[in-house]
Amino acid sequence: MKLTFTLNGREVTEDAAPDQTLFAWLRAHHIKSVKCGCETSNCGLCTVWLDDEPVLSCSVLMARVDGHAVTTLEGVGPAREEFARCMAEEGAEQCGFCSPGLEMDVLALDRKHPDADDETIRRFLSGNLCRCSGYASQMRAIRRFLGRHKNPGGRLSERSEAAVAMEKQVKAAGKGVTSSDRGSSLSRPVVKKDAYALLAGKPAYADDLAPDDALIVKLVRSGQAHARVTKIDTSRALAVPGVVAVYTPEDAPRNSFTLAGQSYLECSPYDTRILDDVVRYVGDEVAMVVAETEEAVAKAAKLVKVTYEKLPAILDMEQALDNPTVIHDEKDWAYGADRTGDPKRNLVAHDVHEHGDVDAELAAADIVIDREYHTQAAEQAMMETMRSYAY
Ligand code: FES
Ligand code: FES
Repeated sequence: MKLTFTLNGREVTEDAAPDQTLFAWLRAHHIKSVKCGCETSNCGLCTVWLDDEPVLSCSVLMARVDGHAVTTLEGVGPAREEFARCMAEEGAEQCGFCSPGLEMDVLALDRKHPDADDETIRRFLSGNLCRCSGYASQMRAIRRFLGRHKNPGGRLSERSEAAVAMEKQVKAAGKGVTSSDRGSSLSRPVVKKDAYALLAGKPAYADDLAPDDALIVKLVRSGQAHARVTKIDTSRALAVPGVVAVYTPEDAPRNSFTLAGQSYLECSPYDTRILDDVVRYVGDEVAMVVAETEEAVAKAAKLVKVTYEKLPAILDMEQALDNPTVIHDEKDWAYGADRTGDPKRNLVAHDVHEHGDVDAELAAADIVIDREYHTQAAEQAMMETMRSYAY
């Protein structure tokens, strides 16, 4: 379908699939400020303007763009630089992945509600998620940015009171800094070195840096909680145009690694292969598809046919210890730095922390509460989706 629209003030006429998303089109055309954190209209990272209205580009189809004006961070006016200064000086961007989407919305807010109070700001930006900042520093930056409308000549005020107070605290804490430290970053707040590049949406993340002709790898994941893979038919996947290879456990080296991910010494056991013929949870990797395009790799991944022999699954952590079903019975299972686990008991690690004479303290206490507590599993939930680029 031939589409004509304006992108950052420049007319574009191009063939585009009407069902391609605006997000995918922009990224394919090297507009790297537009980020994706969810693809499901939940994070705000992909915000651009369509005829000056903020929209989530991951949920706008190209057919809707025909005849309209699209603006991305690359095409907004000088107000962006003023807001970037507020963000940088208030320490409001950290990983920076959410910043372009936030900036697009704040600049729209600035146009529509230049005198917005905190509640209006919060409501307007309720769709912009940030995993790093805790939002307090962003609010300081936004208040300072909007506050310029009340200043003579529309000039930005100096740093917010909160930022100045923080600076004083840092200075007080830095007393005793030696003369050789002066001029360094010690005892004074600093704007992050990469702050302005990130706030301008410059390429900085794994997906921005991969070359256009990089092959794309996607994993086929198990729908079984515990099973042995008895057969994988890759023929239909390999027949998809653009598919370069499909790898299965037979192709994978029998090298185990730890899922914990930190560098040497790794604490957790070496109990994972890149592709294994036993799957141990729903989502475990079964096969790997390599293709030239996202479309080809996505289509082929659905055509890999896996046959499983189901094994008993353990679906409750409380039932796992000493269960007759052993999850890791492979012969080459090996300890990491921590040796408190026992694979035959489904035990990854075990630890007891006691400080002082616990029994004596309990005996002396007026009230003893004997309960069992569980903490939640913590996931950092970073906004940048997991991807890597290798060459
Ligand atoms: S809202 Fe579009 S990527 Fe999250
Ligand atoms: S700075 Fe917002 S997600 Fe990292």
